[in-house]
Amino acid sequence: MNILSIETSCDETAISIIRSHNDQQSPNFKVLSDLVISQIETHAEYGGVFPALAKREHAKNLIPLLEQSLKEANLFHHRDNNDIESKKQELASILEREPDLFGKFIEVLGSIERPDIDIIMVTYGPGLAPALWVGVNFARALSIAWDIPVIPVNHMEGHITSILLKDDYKNQNEALYPIDSFEFPIIALLISGGHTQLVLVRDWSNYEIIGETIDDAVGEAFDKVARMLGMEYPGGPKISKSAEHGEENADVTLPRPMIHSGDYRFSFSGLKTAVRYLVEDLQDQNKFDDQTISDIAREFEHAVTEVLIKKTKDAMIEYNAKGLIIAGGVSANRHITESFTTMLHDEFPDTSIYLPEKHMCGDNSLMIAVAGFINYLKHKKTAMKPQDEIMAVGNLKL
Ligand code: KG4
Ligand code: ZN
Repeated sequence: MNILSIETSCDETAISIIRSHNDQQSPNFKVLSDLVISQIETHAEYGGVFPALAKREHAKNLIPLLEQSLKEANLFHHRDNNDIESKKQELASILEREPDLFGKFIEVLGSIERPDIDIIMVTYGPGLAPALWVGVNFARALSIAWDIPVIPVNHMEGHITSILLKDDYKNQNEALYPIDSFEFPIIALLISGGHTQLVLVRDWSNYEIIGETIDDAVGEAFDKVARMLGMEYPGGPKISKSAEHGEENADVTLPRPMIHSGDYRFSFSGLKTAVRYLVEDLQDQNKFDDQTISDIAREFEHAVTEVLIKKTKDAMIEYNAKGLIIAGGVSANRHITESFTTMLHDEFPDTSIYLPEKHMCGDNSLMIAVAGFINYLKHKKTAMKPQDEIMAVGNLKL
């Protein structure tokens, strides 16, 4: 069975194709193609992701990306006169809000053979609504054009299941670690540009959010602090690079917000404000230079990490966790993952830590394929939805 997955929730347009094995004993798949077009440069000058721009870029990128994906998967074959004309009106109404995409869609889909794809999977939330809608409507149009079902996928479930991909997934007949080899419950710490959540994973597809941020997400705080330090969007990776040169500095101290609140809520907006005052102070004293910038980056990273570790540790104890997943864009941060690895080694030596392969930390469509695949295995028919029932949900919960 071949599966096409689509991700457009934020600033990456991504399409993957996987081929699943029909072995029910240990379901697995091979990756046939996995492509991403990042819009980072488009958004950098705005200092963040601009939804209308993201929508336009997705609409522009999806058809070329689809063509390229089908070619890489060896599923692209030219053919004249397929029956897309008879479906044109229905497709036009689905892609009503993406006129440019519609034109390209008819042109390209009308000139190729229906590819050997059995299911489409698409992110339907959470994320930026205009961006999500492009992907959702594109999936719905493909569903009509090729007459195949769609499985809508939760982006955060994608991040959780991203850890199932082996480090060298690209060259493997079985790209996934055996799904049945995990012991539950697992605590998942999801840290991205839009989310900071502690999730109790009772089983794959069985999640409960036990705590989340009451204001900014961790990635958002990284990006905003980076901006105050004169770094371009996305600032997360730049802060972690700068922090490597940072040193302990008595003039540079930051709070650990809500570390003793006794619950699983997070707050990073106060930390961001504390950085702003600190920067102003240092500027007034003529002490704001490259070294103090690195010292701030380091102290900020430490503050965030300590809070994340404290709350995660409490959750692992309360729920008797057999494993810890850290996923989402910020899981690319080495200081955070190394601190967690050391903490687990010292305090939970029997508990495994699961981190995504480095390409799987940020947004991608392969993690959407993994989450959709698991939903398909667990729920089969009910996971699939008629295309006209699928809607983008910006604030979708796990
Ligand atoms: O999951 P993701 O790609 O997109 C969302 O779903 O939000 O996460 C993006 C976030 C951005 O805020 C980015 O600055 C942050 O992840 N990020 C990092 C690092 N790499 C990416 N934050 C800290 N350290 C990093 N190395
Ligand atoms: Zn994400």
